[in-house]
Amino acid sequence: IDSATWRRVDAYLSALLVGEDPALDAAVAAQRAAGLPAIEVAPVNGKFLHLIARISGARRILEIGTLGGYSAIWLARALPDDGLVISIEAEPANARLARANLDRAGLGGRVQIREGRALDVLPTLSGEAPFDLVFIDADKESNAAYLDWAARLGRPGTVVIVDNIGRGGAVADPTNSRPDVVGTRQGLEVLARDPRFEATALQTLDAKGYDGFAVAVVV
Ligand code: DHB
Ligand code: MG
Repeated sequence: IDSATWRRVDAYLSALLVGEDPALDAAVAAQRAAGLPAIEVAPVNGKFLHLIARISGARRILEIGTLGGYSAIWLARALPDDGLVISIEAEPANARLARANLDRAGLGGRVQIREGRALDVLPTLSGEAPFDLVFIDADKESNAAYLDWAARLGRPGTVVIVDNIGRGGAVADPTNSRPDVVGTRQGLEVLARDPRFEATALQTLDAKGYDGFAVAVVV
């Protein structure tokens, strides 16, 4: 299948099922204007996160890796009025941009951005657990550690989603020693072997290319 085909299908599905969305479109425009890399989840993928949050009845969501707040908008929209997203972001400029994007979207009250390295912030969140859904989308090198925290800050039934598990196919190449690929594989091995999880993973082709995500439940 050539890339023109799946890109056309992605554009078709995005236009049909997501469409124009002033708050999301403004968030993306602000991210581009600020020079952030275009690595926020694709529109159809953001809506998938939103639907999983709704289907699971999530009220408290933990996101690791805010970037400019695009996925946080999708997740926060899935919550009841008294719901909460806590999103961790290491880069202060990203956190400020995300705050502005979320406020513009009218969701500022439902999202708290915790600034700092996730491995420093996660140990401070025990008092805010359990989370009903955890979305892991930060530095791939730390995925195994993030999954350990997801289990500790979750409860039986907590949904865990890990972005970017395909890495253009590199994940299945055992000779690839890129740190992000090794970290991605280590995360998948945790999901496979750690008895606290039951998991699967799906490959994706969307506006961002060939990648995938893992979906797990805390047992
Ligand atoms: C990268 C990170 C992401 O979270 C993503 O969805 C795509 C790319 C990256 O660091 O290259
Ligand atoms: Mg990602």
